[in-house]
Amino acid sequence: MDDGAWERLRRAASGARAQAYAPYSGFAVGAALEARSGAVFVGCNVENASYGATICAERAALAAAVAAGERDFVALVIVSGAARPTPPCGICRQSLAELSRDLPIRSFTGDAHAEYTLATLLPNAFGADQLDP
Ligand code: THU
Repeated sequence: MDDGAWERLRRAASGARAQAYAPYSGFAVGAALEARSGAVFVGCNVENASYGATICAERAALAAAVAAGERDFVALVIVSGAARPTPPCGICRQSLAELSRDLPIRSFTGDAHAEYTLATLLPNAFGADQLDP
């Protein structure tokens, strides 16, 4: 991923963030997930009056990608308006790890960004290999 590729994802995630439905937290998040095919899938958080039914931007992007037939991902960008760049939540880490154990991730807020890999955020992930009796 070169800087231009990250910037393309940042713009896509920022556009999705503008659609966030976050009336309860006021914390709008956008995500853009790039598949190995080059296709980019976006998501935003969608909150619910039953708070636990909320879906995060990252899982919304993942669901859109999988629904389009993609299973192989090369990069994820998150955009929020937080004071500091925010990593994906624990549930999203687990969801992403199902298909991409070591996904490169950048999180932006304003002019700042942080970089992670999923393997550092979720070491020793539970996976299908552990389901064997
Ligand atoms: N949220 C995300 O969409 N992604 C994250 O990485 C962190 C949290 C959402 C969930 C909820 O709608 C709001 O942000 C506050 O937690």
